[in-house]
Amino acid sequence: MRILISTDMHANILAAEEADKAGRDLGADLHVHLGDSLDIGPWPEETFQFMKSRSVVMIKGNHEEYHCSDGYGPVIEKRMGAAERNHYEWTTAQLSPDSIETLEVLPYEHRIAEGGRTFRFTHFPLKNGRICEPWIETDEEGMTEPYGAAGREVLFFGHIHRWVDDGVNPRFICPGATGISQYPEYGKTLLLLDIGKGGYSLERHRMAWDMERVKREVRRVNRNNRNWLLDNMYRA
Ligand SMILES: [Fe+2]
Ligand SMILES: [Fe+2]
Repeated sequence: MRILISTDMHANILAAEEADKAGRDLGADLHVHLGDSLDIGPWPEETFQFMKSRSVVMIKGNHEEYHCSDGYGPVIEKRMGAAERNHYEWTTAQLSPDSIETLEVLPYEHRIAEGGRTFRFTHFPLKNGRICEPWIETDEEGMTEPYGAAGREVLFFGHIHRWVDDGVNPRFICPGATGISQYPEYGKTLLLLDIGKGGYSLERHRMAWDMERVKREVRRVNRNNRNWLLDNMYRA
């Protein structure tokens, strides 16, 4: 079984379309997105509906929570400035009732049992029933406590926008980020998980979506925190 794994698409339809094409070119049986399909980028509704139309298995991340009845949560409410709030409100205003209804019922995880292992797909650990914010350490020690120490389980997570793969047989893997480039060496990436009878393999793929086109659109649609987004989320 071949599973294409994307994460943190962040309202970038160019990346969503490229991931979809890569899935077909690589012969993927399934595309799983690890959450944060919305915010930061300029095309929230288009990206979300495109992924839905392609039957992508979508996981709820913190940026999905912000746009349904889960809301921002106390940590974000406390930290959020006016520009950030304005940006999230802009995203919510772009979303159709169908998208908001779909967000409402997205699961926090998806599991696949194959080849004697369980593969678990999440955005980030939960705390008090919602995505854990702020930060927890993403090494073996930090992740074992919230996720539990399951023997032959391989766990994929997103949220941190950086590649994590801590060894030859890693248990905790983050593919980086598909729709943004906050850390250029880890951004614009996809992961192919190939599960066979003898085990599994991981292949990282770099993408080529047009960053200048995304930045032009961010400049056009976002009036408030666009300079922060452009400086931090689209680094070449
Ligand atoms: Fe994210
Ligand atoms: Fe996140």
